[in-house]
Amino acid sequence: MSTVRLGVNIDHVATLRNARGGPHPDPLDAARVAVAAGADGITMHLREDRRHIRDGDVQLVRNELAVPLNLEMAATDEMVAIARALRPHACCLVPERRAEVTTEGGLDAAGQIEALRPIVAALGEAGIRVSLFIDPDPSQLRAAAALGAPVVELHTGAYAEGRQGEFERLREAAALTAELGLECHAGHGLTYGNAAAIAALPQVRELNIGHFLIGQALFDGLGAVVRRMKAIIAGSREARDA
Ligand code: PXP
Repeated sequence: MSTVRLGVNIDHVATLRNARGGPHPDPLDAARVAVAAGADGITMHLREDRRHIRDGDVQLVRNELAVPLNLEMAATDEMVAIARALRPHACCLVPERRAEVTTEGGLDAAGQIEALRPIVAALGEAGIRVSLFIDPDPSQLRAAAALGAPVVELHTGAYAEGRQGEFERLREAAALTAELGLECHAGHGLTYGNAAAIAALPQVRELNIGHFLIGQALFDGLGAVVRRMKAIIAGSREARDA
């Protein structure tokens, strides 16, 4: 039985730290706790405005932790230069607008294919596994394959909001990744309640989850929350394969 990796996104530990301007709580400490509890990777979004994660945070996690670091970033020259110097395991290209509260909607890979081509190539040449964060839309998946990105992360935000038909769209998109030779990841808005259905999709290899885990950690502690999410993900595959 194949397992699904859990990438723990620690951005909102930095949100809390930055609210007071001091060093606490430290995202590196959160990454250590998450890894000790079974996180398969750490995900961090270095936004253009540095509203949560800062350059030093990604460097510290990269230097200290042995698990894969997944750097989420906008497809800009500044971020490509940072990623090529940092050499994380993976880079997930996301759309970014300063005014947005979080990543709203996937990257328009189909509409920006020529602009993305050199960026995907530059990251790939540096040995970084490139992922495109896209909506579960066949044209976006085909664009990702045409760009030579090895991985797509399907945006689960609309599904998490309970929008009609979204689970079916994700199911079909995940099936298409296999046909196109893309590794399938998923994330955004996932919780204890809605992650299992996505983890059970046979093509899904990794979930990236942040806001819910960090929020729930206020009540249960981060280690306990990561362990419970890992159990939910593993249980979804066991139930499916039984
Ligand atoms: N994956 C990507 C590409 C994201 O941009 C985000 C949000 O930063 C997530 C996953 C995690 O979403 P959430 O914080 O809602 O779990």
